[in-house]
Amino acid sequence: MKISKSVLALFMAALLVTGMVSAADVKIGFLVKQPEEPWFQVEWKFGEKASQDLGFELIQIGTPDGEKVLNAIDNITAAGAQGFVICTPDVRLGPGIMAKARANGLKVVTVDDRFLGGDGREMEEVPYIGMSAEKFGRQLGEALFTEMKNRGWNMAEVGCMMTTFDELDTTRERTEGAIAQLKEMGFPEAQIYKAPIQQRMEIPTALDAANTLLTRYPNVKYWIVGGPNDNSVLGAVRALEGRGIPAENGIAVGINGTDCIGELEKATPTSFYGSILGLAGVEGYEACKMLYYWIKDGKEPPLDTRTTGRLITRANFRQVLKEEGMD
Ligand code: GLA
Repeated sequence: MKISKSVLALFMAALLVTGMVSAADVKIGFLVKQPEEPWFQVEWKFGEKASQDLGFELIQIGTPDGEKVLNAIDNITAAGAQGFVICTPDVRLGPGIMAKARANGLKVVTVDDRFLGGDGREMEEVPYIGMSAEKFGRQLGEALFTEMKNRGWNMAEVGCMMTTFDELDTTRERTEGAIAQLKEMGFPEAQIYKAPIQQRMEIPTALDAANTLLTRYPNVKYWIVGGPNDNSVLGAVRALEGRGIPAENGIAVGINGTDCIGELEKATPTSFYGSILGLAGVEGYEACKMLYYWIKDGKEPPLDTRTTGRLITRANFRQVLKEEGMD
């Protein structure tokens, strides 16, 4: 009895030192800024799949503001979690979130939106998994230009509306990539107009931004439209419709590919042409998996993991979603 007790004590001490825990004891929080957006629902769904495959417990919490994030961290700590995956509602909360996580003894993996430090630079020391943002933007720009050529439009009559959200590095890099690509392919810079989205990227906020821009350019005949994600482009598409611009006079391409399926399924095509599909499932799964092995075995995750995108359109989206296991 005496021996087994001390063996147990030794074992516990070893666990404390190495930080190792058994699979069944691992609990992970998954906090996302916009739980209503399909992108984040796909991330959660695949996080759940990881939890089933690996045998840990996953606690999902929607955290649309800073206060909710801090409460969620306390709640998952009380529930026995050892870490969390987060897409923060505001990247400037990074230092505060990390201080809280440290105080509570939790490990952190960020997904999609990278924390900014007090100096305004990305907190590269916190593990991150997200889109290769500039590349996604370049794919978007290329898709717009190629389809514009396919339709044989006179470029002098085409305006490019780019909805933007420059508060986030990932979204700024996407739209800047798109603009750079369009210019490199020969689209005139003077015909590229930015429509900055105020507050969060949602269909209504994007619609407002697009409307403001369309008021300034009432005589443009054809529009090519891009933006940082599907909702910010869908808002612009609704604005074109509101102005009576025929669907066939617009080519709009989003990013995410998760939030535009209903649009692509519509019986009558709108000007929403397609989207650069991101790997929300892979990101959700891998973020949880990395954190799990970090907690269980002390294996530190890579600091920067980037995922790639694929163009989906009405013609191929079912097939591509199937291939990516996202149908
Ligand atoms: C941001 C956007 C989301 C999605 C992710 C992808 O968080 O708000 O819609 O595009 O990036 O990383």
